[in-house]
Amino acid sequence: MDAQPTAPVPPPGCPAHHSGARVPLHGPGFAADPQAYYAYLRHYGPTAPVELAPGVEATLVTDYSTALQLLQDSGSFRKDARRWRDLSEGRISPDNPVVPVLSYRPNCMFTDGAEHLRLRQAVTDSMARVDSRRLSQSTEQVSNYLISQFGTRGSADLLGDYAKQLPLFVFNELFGCPADIGDRVLFGINGMFDGINADRAIEVLFGAVGELVALKRARPGEDVTSWLMQHVAKLSDEEMVHQLALLLVAGNEPLRNLIGNTLHRLLTHDAYAHKGGLIDEAIDDTLWENPPMQNLAPHYPASDMEFAGQKLQAGELVLVSFAAANTGPALTAARQAGSNRAHLAWSAGPHACPSKEPARQITVTAVENLLNRLPDVELAVPEDSLVWRPGPFNRGLATLPARFTPAEAVRRTVPQAGPEAPARPEAGKANGKRDRMWSQFLNWLTT
Ligand code: HEM
Repeated sequence: MDAQPTAPVPPPGCPAHHSGARVPLHGPGFAADPQAYYAYLRHYGPTAPVELAPGVEATLVTDYSTALQLLQDSGSFRKDARRWRDLSEGRISPDNPVVPVLSYRPNCMFTDGAEHLRLRQAVTDSMARVDSRRLSQSTEQVSNYLISQFGTRGSADLLGDYAKQLPLFVFNELFGCPADIGDRVLFGINGMFDGINADRAIEVLFGAVGELVALKRARPGEDVTSWLMQHVAKLSDEEMVHQLALLLVAGNEPLRNLIGNTLHRLLTHDAYAHKGGLIDEAIDDTLWENPPMQNLAPHYPASDMEFAGQKLQAGELVLVSFAAANTGPALTAARQAGSNRAHLAWSAGPHACPSKEPARQITVTAVENLLNRLPDVELAVPEDSLVWRPGPFNRGLATLPARFTPAEAVRRTVPQAGPEAPARPEAGKANGKRDRMWSQFLNWLTT
């Protein structure tokens, strides 16, 4: 019998192998096969030294139990990113591409203790008021609209034409955005994630959200923005803007990737084709094995400490690999044996995702409606030619080219409770087609 290999297998082309350097979670090698990196990182033990971008060092927790221990110990591990020593002591430039994701803002993601509790309660209570029937209806409405834009062509990029746009439109509806504000929210978020003129995009987004807050103070409606400002936490205008911007940013990218990664799974695994509850099962398998947020939960030790056999210094950056924790050998075996241990795709502890029910509901409706409208949809390119976007945090495809029998133009259905009546975009604020996406949707709804 052949001897079993005992040495860890380095991911192909990993520059850290044998060099003593940190393992880079950026670049095409990691994007192409992150699981090979996680398998390699496990040989360090429950935590491993990684690099998030050139010059940005962190400790990554890859073991499930160790991850839970960290996420549930808010006394030892803090979220306030002003504690991040490498940034505050100037070892990392504020221009570094990972800084916008990690640096402090006054929202529930970056706060601890009583302040976190107050902001988070406002967010969770307001999201809990979302009516699930109305959410399904508006998601279906948006889905129908997006399919009407490409369905007759017989081919589409299910990422760019569908998964990327759908959450943005649904959020505009949830937050009660009128036409002009909604156009600028879409422009701002798309620009931020595309990295095209990102500074301008952020400025446009915050300007639009600020106007939305002013509008809802004057004329509240049945929407998350109004519920958030009516909450007993009595958020100031500045707090409102920051919580809304967080919801938009924290919600859109992972939701796009949950829809995209689930569609990818359905189009590449024949196993789902003959099963009744295929969409739910495909979403669960995606959350376990290909979670939209693969590494995040940045934390900072409150003091120098020993953790999982490793010395950590106060203020150093420690992250959790949800993807590695979910797919570790012990957990995979327990899952196969029918254990009811939960995956970590939504994180855990006091900062776990507060929106998993609405996020899942939007995903189910988005995927179900697409499969109903385009029943023979299939991948239009070989699976191994698909490209995953680089970066240490999110896991999502760049494109998902698909083909299908051209669908008849989708008939719109009148929503029960829709967003405010469309107003003409103000001159100079929204010009091209891409700048008027929300107005065009509202026009489609009402004509
Ligand atoms: C309706 C869509 C969503 C909204 C509005 C939303 C909102 C949020 C917010 C506000 C937080 C910060 C909570 C806190 O720090 O107390 C958060 C955290 C988180 N969300 Fe979501 N989310 C959405 C969808 C998703 C999806 C689809 C996933 C992936 C499966 C996801 C995974 C996470 C994770 C892993 C965290 C913890 C991040 C960390 O600690 O750094 N979320 N989400």
